[in-house]
Amino acid sequence: MTFNDLLARLAAPIVQAPMAGSQNHRLALAVCAAGGLGSMPAAMWTAQELHQELTAVTQATQAPYNINFFCHASPDIDAAKHKQWQHALAPHYQELGLTQSPAVAGAARTPFSHDMADVLEVFRPPVVSFHFGLPAPDLLARVKACGSLVMSSATTVAEAQWLEAHGADVVIAQGLEAGGHRGMFLSTDLTTQLGTFALLPQIVRAVKVPVIAAGGIATAAGVQAAKTLGASGVQIGTSFLCSHEANTNALHRAVLQSPQSQHTALTNLFSGRPARGVVNRVMRELGPISEHAPAFPLATADIAPLRAAAEAKGLQDFTPLWSGQNTAGVREASATDIALDFVKAWRAGDPISPRIA
Ligand SMILES: Cc1cc2nc3c(=O)[nH]c(=O)nc-3n(C[C@H](O)[C@H](O)[C@H](O)COP(=O)(O)O)c2cc1C
Repeated sequence: MTFNDLLARLAAPIVQAPMAGSQNHRLALAVCAAGGLGSMPAAMWTAQELHQELTAVTQATQAPYNINFFCHASPDIDAAKHKQWQHALAPHYQELGLTQSPAVAGAARTPFSHDMADVLEVFRPPVVSFHFGLPAPDLLARVKACGSLVMSSATTVAEAQWLEAHGADVVIAQGLEAGGHRGMFLSTDLTTQLGTFALLPQIVRAVKVPVIAAGGIATAAGVQAAKTLGASGVQIGTSFLCSHEANTNALHRAVLQSPQSQHTALTNLFSGRPARGVVNRVMRELGPISEHAPAFPLATADIAPLRAAAEAKGLQDFTPLWSGQNTAGVREASATDIALDFVKAWRAGDPISPRIA
């Protein structure tokens, strides 16, 4: 599918951001019903779960949808680093009456693989998006052979140029405001990261492929501003987190709708890679960035028992409260209604730029 084919099948290029851990096909379908591009995150799914989710979507709609994967390199387990991490978490384990397991637990998030590509070949999804770069050329070739439009996140101009050169059909300009993981893959230096409205026009100038803006877009004016700066579409995550169809838990929902959500930060405590979430106790006490956190995604396993124990007491002290910097669009409503407002906002302005029409 080309980007123009996709546009022809959408009411407007409003992309619901794939959000691993926070949603499944229900959210994607609700957004598809509004004429936006519903997305599903596969980073925490097995190939079997992927098959089930794609079955659910394709049985319910003819509309285009997006399936999203992470494509990080799986890290080697570093026993010394794991020990340091357990040492850092030990007082919290003690406080909650938990015992640390000496074993190094496996990954909570897996990169795109040939097993996943086997499933894609059954469904031939219209759009496939990636976070953390692109998969190896043989894997990407399998996706392209399905006829899927390939999108990936860039957090710098250099990443956008790299993605275009390596086969991305669409670049998602992910500004620093965005909730969840930074898609950064050419550098680990956080000072390279730009805000959405500084990054977007520079990427638009630097590449020929369409550019979708992501990060902090939460209002009609934000959608219009992205369009004015040359975006061919917008990708919106945080605004859908409290929708009826999202799986966001009650503690997270309450925080997103409270003044606490005004203070977010990038943290590596929950996974090992920087991701934006609302500041909570563990971020204040250990981070938000800790040199002791194991490589992505291995940090998750040792935080998970703390999270479960605290949540059982009604506390969000160890919960990853993923959120972008702009929670103005957060509301408890159907995702179809939320998406429809963004669709209307896109269509209310000038016609789509000739570059992408
Ligand atoms: C809870 C949450 C989970 C996310 N998970 C993913 C993911 O699995 N894959 C991905 O490509 N992006 C993910 N993102 C990032 C989004 O694609 C997007 O960049 C971001 O939501 C846009 O900024 P906003 O949240 O301010 O709208 C996630 C964002 C959030 C808030």
